[in-house]
Amino acid sequence: MVRRHPRVLVLWDEIYEHIWFTPERPAHLLHVAPDLRERTLLVNGASKTYAMTGWRIGWGAGPQALVRAMEVIQSQASSGPNAIGQAATAWALDAEDQNFVSASRAAYARRAAFVAEALQAVPGLSLLAPQGAFFAYVRCGALIGRLRPDGRPIASDADVVDWLLDAEGVAVVDGAAYGLSPYFRVSIAASDAVLAEAVQRIARAVGALRLAAPAPAAAIAVAP
Ligand SMILES: Cc1ncc(COP(=O)(O)O)c(C=O)c1O
Repeated sequence: MVRRHPRVLVLWDEIYEHIWFTPERPAHLLHVAPDLRERTLLVNGASKTYAMTGWRIGWGAGPQALVRAMEVIQSQASSGPNAIGQAATAWALDAEDQNFVSASRAAYARRAAFVAEALQAVPGLSLLAPQGAFFAYVRCGALIGRLRPDGRPIASDADVVDWLLDAEGVAVVDGAAYGLSPYFRVSIAASDAVLAEAVQRIARAVGALRLAAPAPAAAIAVAP
């Protein structure tokens, strides 16, 4: 598809490069289609691989003309990434021992499998086990039309999200925010203990929703 449109540039966001749970490492675009190299910008960063969210260190690699133009904009828009973050990232990338990366991947894989299994067992919810990244997308369409104990109806995934927060203090993001309804997104970037508590709370909140009473049958006048 992209090959048919040679003027289209490709932005390949590989921020989750090391967070994958498939048997094999997922293929990289430029291994599959090396001919796209001259019009692909790779972006990556330290946030996910080294658990450095908030340190604001990222990088890009791509065609020289594009990178030069980016430098012009970046040098005017920001005085540069913070020095401590740069030093920490350089240290992390250069470290010979990268066991932290494989150990984190194993921990995230375990958490993703745990959350998927636990939420799959909740009547009304379904999901596929995540194959990478930090998130589980949970289908919640079966809850739409149910009623909260206070009588308010659940009309959307945003209502499900509000209910989980109101009832049990669990914060998740509605699928509508990503153009994917009716789902909600659970982050698995939390400790095993927090996730175990969260799935119990989600199950309890879902179990507290009532099915709406069926509409009364319309009266039929039968002529004598
Ligand atoms: C898909 C994706 N790309 C890039 C980023 C950027 O991460 P950061 O701004 O922490 O470097 C994120 C962070 O949430 C992300 O989810």
